[in-house]
Formats: sequence, structure tokens, C-alpha cells
Amino acid sequence: MHYLRHGARVIAVGSTPAKGAALLADATAESAGDCATFLQADLTSVAATSELVARIQSTSPTVDQLVLCAQRYRLFGPRSVTPEGFEHAFALGYLSRYVLSHGLRTALEAAPRPVILNVGTPGVPLGRLHREDLQLDRRYDGFKATLQAFRANDLLGAAYPSRYPDTLRRLPPRRGVDRHAAPSLPPRRGAP
Ligand SMILES: NC(=O)c1ccc[n+]([C@@H]2O[C@H](COP(=O)([O-])OP(=O)(O)OC[C@H]3O[C@@H](n4cnc5c(N)ncnc54)[C@H](OP(=O)(O)O)[C@@H]3O)[C@@H](O)[C@H]2O)c1
Repeated sequence: MHYLRHGARVIAVGSTPAKGAALLADATAESAGDCATFLQADLTSVAATSELVARIQSTSPTVDQLVLCAQRYRLFGPRSVTPEGFEHAFALGYLSRYVLSHGLRTALEAAPRPVILNVGTPGVPLGRLHREDLQLDRRYDGFKATLQAFRANDLLGAAYPSRYPDTLRRLPPRRGVDRHAAPSLPPRRGAP
């Protein structure tokens, strides 16, 4: 709603149509209904996320900002695997962000000052990549899977700009965006 109020065109993505309808209703109430679009997609699916990229590119050749924040924690319960064979946290917390950020790179580079806001948990010294068992099909634990996705996402944030050094640069993690998530990061100057 913040960007809609500032006159931007916003495409919101989620798997729940009711949430999309609520967003469109709010946008309409603020006379910004024409600028809001909701696209239903299951971001645990690489195929669906790739289709989403194609759909966004076909309607929006320029993307100014990409906000990556889809998450659904499954800390308890049995291991869940997507129809494509990926462990749920890995698919949603990492793979979808990989596909969206790399897939929309050309559209982002077409913008004057593109930004990818990858909402995550940098600076938290918990979890690691289990390279020997990346899908955790041998020793699954919901916390382990969630933390592995966090750390994979950190690597995405570090690797992405170094892959495109001529056009992109990495901004340091912003503790102020989610203060409680990054206790090891120094506070920004002037932050409470
Ligand atoms: N909450 C915290 O304490 C906390 C702390 C540190 C960092 N973070 C980070 O902040 C970000 C947002 O977390 P949050 O807790 O604020 O989550 P949230 O409010 O529950 O929002 C997550 C969003 O992800 C979407 N989503 C979930 N599964 C999806 C799927 N399969 N396909 C498409 N969209 C899907 C949901 O929309 P639908 O329901 O429509 O699918 C929802 O709008 C995450 O990156 C998280 O790691 C959160």
C-alpha cells in the first residue's frame, strides 16, 4: 500500500486469492485500484515461479523493485516435498528467490535505479548448508531446514551482485528493517 499511495504500479504475488482480493479492495478504497495487480502463484514450484517471471516480463518490461519475502515456516511436523522433489523450505525460502531475482534481472536492469529487497535473516549465526544432504532426505528437522534456507538465501544475496558486477552492487544488510532478526549486526547510525 505504501508504494500504491505514492503512485507506483504494484504487482503482489501470493498463494491465497482472498489476500489478493483484500489488497485490491484496499487499493480501490485509496483510488489506486488501477495500479494494483494480484498474481496468484505457488512459489514452492519452480515451474510456477518461472511462469510468473514470464508473465511479469510480458506486462512489465521494466521492474523498479523486487521484494522477496515469501515465507511459510514448517518448524514442526514431517518433511514436506514439493511435486518437483524439493524440500519445502529450500523451495520457498531459497529457490523461488533465485528464480525470481535471476529471471527478472533484465527487467530490473531496464530500470534507472533497480532494487532487490531480499528480506531475510543475515547476521544470525545459526544453521548451515547441508551440502551432503541438501534436500535433508536423510536427516530432516524443521528448524534445520528453515535455517538452511536462510543461509542459502544469504549466499544468494552475496553471489547475485558479484555475478553482475557491471550493473549491480550489494547494499549491506539493513538491521533497521527487522531489528530483532539480526542482533549481531551493528546498529545503523541514528537507529534506536
Ligand atoms: N516473522 C518474523 O519474525 C521474521 C523474522 C525475521 C525475518 N523474517 C523474514 O521476513 C519475511 C516475511 O516473513 P513473515 O513472517 O512476515 O511472513 P508472512 O507475514 O507470513 O508473509 C509471508 C508471505 O509469503 C506468502 N507465501 C507463503 N507461501 C507462499 C507460496 N507457496 N507461494 C506464494 N506466496 C507464499 C504469503 O502469502 P499467501 O498466504 O498468499 O501465500 C505471505 O504473504 C521472510 O523472508 C522471513 O524470513 C520474518
